[in-house]
Amino acid sequence: MDRDDLERRMGARSFARLMGDWRPASGGGRLAEALADRVRLLVLDGRLPLQTRVPAERELAVALEVSRTTVAAAYDTLRDAGVLRSRRGAGSWTQLPAEPSGGASSAPYAPVGDLSLFDLAHAAPSAPTEPMRAAAAAAVHDLDAHLGFHGYDLRGLLPLRTAIAERCTARGLPTTVDQILVTAGAQHAIALVVLALTGPGDRVVVEHPSYPNALDAIRAHGARAVPLPLGPGPGRTWSWDMDLLAATIRDAAPRLMYLIPDFQNPTGAVLDDAGRERLVELARRTSTPLLVDETMSEVSLRDEPIRPVAAFGAADSPLVLTVGSASKSFWGGLRVGWIRTSAPMVRRLAATRVQMDLGNPVLEQLVVTRLLADATAIAAARRIELTAARDHLQDRIATLFPGWVPTRPQGGMSLWIELGEAVSSRLASAARRHDLLISAGPRYGIDGAFERYLRLPFTLRTDRMDMALERLLTTWRELDRVGPLQDIEPVAVA
Ligand SMILES: Cc1ncc(COP(=O)(O)O)c(C=O)c1O
Repeated sequence: MDRDDLERRMGARSFARLMGDWRPASGGGRLAEALADRVRLLVLDGRLPLQTRVPAERELAVALEVSRTTVAAAYDTLRDAGVLRSRRGAGSWTQLPAEPSGGASSAPYAPVGDLSLFDLAHAAPSAPTEPMRAAAAAAVHDLDAHLGFHGYDLRGLLPLRTAIAERCTARGLPTTVDQILVTAGAQHAIALVVLALTGPGDRVVVEHPSYPNALDAIRAHGARAVPLPLGPGPGRTWSWDMDLLAATIRDAAPRLMYLIPDFQNPTGAVLDDAGRERLVELARRTSTPLLVDETMSEVSLRDEPIRPVAAFGAADSPLVLTVGSASKSFWGGLRVGWIRTSAPMVRRLAATRVQMDLGNPVLEQLVVTRLLADATAIAAARRIELTAARDHLQDRIATLFPGWVPTRPQGGMSLWIELGEAVSSRLASAARRHDLLISAGPRYGIDGAFERYLRLPFTLRTDRMDMALERLLTTWRELDRVGPLQDIEPVAVA
């Protein structure tokens, strides 16, 4: 494949829209610097894909209403920083900057275990140490029973599928083993369903805001995300407008809906039972497959259980595909997730899967099988920790950032905060100078939306969280007096 096959183009108007409100509040001579800073952030947090050909200087200058000299200076800065590469007479393309001097990783996220960095981009907890050790030790013994086989299993190990099916059944969704496909995490499951059920140009209805990596999977496949705006309604709560969803399906004729009804990421919203019933009915009536992301379902901080969306329809419907994960209830490092749908759809997805991978590692599946036997106790312990962590973060925000308005989620692992000003990207950019990683609101939107919002997870240990918030406060206070960014790593979110 030659390089031109890989590149994308972005017109000046789309580019300007993606830039959002990038100008420094103080204006003046720092325009080029601010412009370069914003482009760098968009590349590093994934909003501006790699290998994208950026608009010509003159066109961008017109679209942004700045002088061509400003754009030229910003592009020069970006070239020096390795974020743009140019070919004379042909244009400039985005690329990942080379590793910072002494940098430990070329992966698109902060190196794990680096305590000098404060990671508020991942809403993901550390592992429950004792249960994890016990499950891992037991799994090593369980492995014996599998060593005589070749180890490839597209659908997943039978004991794990059995344990997942039992967990679904216990949550009110009768499920048989052949209705489960084990995947390498929920993200793999989402990408697999998008790959199997959509084609380039197809529309996929998504909540707006939504989980960025799912939006990326849709985009990467050439499908188009059609936003379904969520709230904020009265009392600034976020919720679904089911009439609007019905109208969107009618107008857009999507190939797929991707929704997160349990502690929606990033808003924390929960779809009520009436909404769930309506959703399944809409999927049935319009024959639109519904990809339900239940990654957060078991991270509940509330008393009442949540009935799975799929339980509101026929138990063997191929139209509802439910994604679950071990990442939030146990640990992201396990990389185990699953899809629960009809048995024929499981077979179809398993057949599609071979172009990506040939199954999950056996040992990790055995570890998750063991952990699932203990899932209720682990969830109870986690709930106590996360409730305290949520309350602590809310208290600190009220004290340190009195103008900010956070949600009060009943589950999940993050707050979605209204900042009162459209400065989220600038804040995320500037935070990197303090070794603080945060993901700006527009990472959760389409075309630069949510610049007034920030997602903050409450998964760091309290002492680390307090240090991170001190840095965030410093960043917030100096927002308008910052110099250009140096040596920074790209960051992923979870
Ligand atoms: C809503 C949602 N879906 C999917 C994922 C990906 O999960 P996994 O680690 O299982 O791939 C996450 C992770 O943060 C998430 O929040």
